[in-house]
Amino acid sequence: MPYPDLTAFGPDFRWGAATAAYQIEGAVAEDGRSPSIWDTFCQVPGAIEGGDTGERACEHYHRWPEDVALMRALGLTSYRFSVAWPRVVPGGTGAVNQAGLDFYDRLVDALLEADIRPNATLYHWDLPQVLQDRGGWPARETAAAFADYAAVVAARLGDRVADWATLNEPLCSAWIGYLEGRMAPGLTDLAAAVRASFHLHLGHGLAAQAVRAASPGEVRLGIINNLSPCEPASPDEADEAAARRADGHINRWWLDPVLGRGYPEDMRAVYGVDLPEREGDLATIAQPLDWVGVNYYFRQVAAADPGGGAPFFRQVPVPGPRTAMGWEVHAAGLEKLLLRLTREYGVRELMVTESGAAYHDEVGPDGQVHDAERGEYVSEHLAACARAAAAGAPLTGYYVWSLLDNFEWAYGYDKRFGLVHVDYATQARTIKDSGHRYADLIRAHQLGTVPTGQPG
Ligand code: FCB
Repeated sequence: MPYPDLTAFGPDFRWGAATAAYQIEGAVAEDGRSPSIWDTFCQVPGAIEGGDTGERACEHYHRWPEDVALMRALGLTSYRFSVAWPRVVPGGTGAVNQAGLDFYDRLVDALLEADIRPNATLYHWDLPQVLQDRGGWPARETAAAFADYAAVVAARLGDRVADWATLNEPLCSAWIGYLEGRMAPGLTDLAAAVRASFHLHLGHGLAAQAVRAASPGEVRLGIINNLSPCEPASPDEADEAAARRADGHINRWWLDPVLGRGYPEDMRAVYGVDLPEREGDLATIAQPLDWVGVNYYFRQVAAADPGGGAPFFRQVPVPGPRTAMGWEVHAAGLEKLLLRLTREYGVRELMVTESGAAYHDEVGPDGQVHDAERGEYVSEHLAACARAAAAGAPLTGYYVWSLLDNFEWAYGYDKRFGLVHVDYATQARTIKDSGHRYADLIRAHQLGTVPTGQPG
């Protein structure tokens, strides 16, 4: 497609890219960091493709000045990163590791110097292993520990960081980590997963209060969910019901309680697990939010799966273009989600906190990475955002996943999502064509123009 018209975005629109601590930092045993559940999971035979681990990753812990320079070269106005709990409070609770905090302190200073607004996520899946040993998210204590850690980070960085997210994709932590077992800690226990979901939410609410109380500066607080529009695979009533369950499992369970609607009754019945709820918890979970973050990758086309275990649906593959993850490319789903959050949930500020695609990229003989598909993907998704914004969605930012190729969890290093290519043997970084194209779009939006012609 030609360059999309992005004039529906306001002049202060945040142009960003996102990363997560465990996926890029490496340096897992340096400066007092303790192991996280991902360090442990990476040691489980067969858990990670190719036996990869986050031990070195992109060495961002040491190469951050170069990475901030890359962000500047791309013209980013915001950067979304996560803070590693095991660096800051290695014991999970208690003593604060100043060396761990110093790393984020330096990073934030460098970002501000480069005119890049930090957007910090407090939890992107790297629970200190010591807390998993004490029960992990199914245990109520983990929620309180999270709030204490969040207060420590906000007290140190809050004079310079305003945009905070408590959790990244709690769905993955609970459903994939404790129910499907494909992510750390690798359990397959519905009751534990439901309890984990509740304590993640409680942790979110307590951390929201803690950040607001501890930060010396302005706080703009949000939560980040991965959402998918859900459609029935056929007009059969069984598939229609499966799509409603899919919507409950993927969207409503994660949006309703934090937005003050409580847990969806239909899904409580589907799971059949009592929530470990105490008086006042629902109010704590429903803290006022300044913004809601949407990570969008694909839609769900659901069919009934009565023999499959709760929530009894399966995803049906549909024809059409796919990324290297096997995920369908469906930009219209993002527009739909943003409008639903606006109209049905009344969200007053939205950010797309992750959007991007993996493709099989290589550095060519000309030293460049010609990833036309990713450029198209980003353009199409930005066009979907612009349509939603023109129709009233209060969208204030878009973050490409990801700044760098990185450790893609259970898929290891084989799946490349970056605007910047990383050669893991040499750690050389190369801005891909999609990065250059993103930079063109940012520049044009800032100048109030629409680039003409076809992107290269
Ligand atoms: C999201 C995660 C992010 C990355 C992308 C591809 O679910 O938040 O860390 O793995 O998917």
